[in-house]
Amino acid sequence: MPGASRGEGAFMYSKDSGPPAQHVVLIGFMGSGKTTVGSLLARQLGLPFVDMDHLIAQQARQSIPRIFEEEGEAGFRRRESAVLTELITAPRAVIATGGGVVTVPDNLPKLKDLGFVIWLNPPEDVIYSRICRNQDRPLLRTPNPRLTVSELLTRRLALYASAAILEADVSEVTPEEAAYGLAESARFYFASKAVCPKPSSAST
Ligand code: S3P
Repeated sequence: MPGASRGEGAFMYSKDSGPPAQHVVLIGFMGSGKTTVGSLLARQLGLPFVDMDHLIAQQARQSIPRIFEEEGEAGFRRRESAVLTELITAPRAVIATGGGVVTVPDNLPKLKDLGFVIWLNPPEDVIYSRICRNQDRPLLRTPNPRLTVSELLTRRLALYASAAILEADVSEVTPEEAAYGLAESARFYFASKAVCPKPSSAST
C-alpha cells in the first residue's frame, strides 16, 4: 500500500488516488472473512453481493476443487482473471475475490480499476483456525497445511498491500460490526471521490 497512512484503530488508508471508484472489493487470504463480511457489507450498502469463486464455479459448471483437478491452478487463474475483467463493467456491487487473485500480476491494475479495495488481514493463527477443518481449498491439501498457510501468506502479504486502499483487521469484532465499520469507510471513500462542481468564474 504505497503512501499508506495510519488511521484510528485497526484501519489503515492509502493516499492513492486511482480511477473513479465503483465497486467495493474485498481481498485477503483464505479464511480472512471476505464472504461472510462481504455479504453483510453489501446489505449495509444496499448493493448486490458477488462472490468471484461462486461465479467461476457457475461459469465452469464445476466446483473449485474440480477445476483445480482438471485444469490445474493455471487454468483456475485464467478463469479468475477473465471474471475479474468482466466485473470491471458490471453493475456496482460488493465483490469478494478469491485469496489468490493478487498472485497474477495483470490482476493488480484490474483490482484498482474495480474500485474501493479493502484488504481483510486477520492474524495468521486466526486464518488457520478458520480454515483448518475445511477441505474445499485445493492449495491446502498438502502434508502440512499449517506450513502451507504460512508460506503462501508470506509470499502474498506484499501483493495484498500493493492492491489495497484500506487494510483492516476485523477479527476482534463480530462480522456485523465489521460490516458496519467498513460500510462507513466505503461511504467516506466514495464521497471523497465525488466530483466537485467547477467554481463559477464570476465568483468573487
Ligand atoms: C485460493 C482461494 C480460494 C479459491 C481457490 C484458491 C487461493 O478462495 O479461490 O481455492 O489461492 O488463495 P477463498 O479465498 O475464498 O478461500
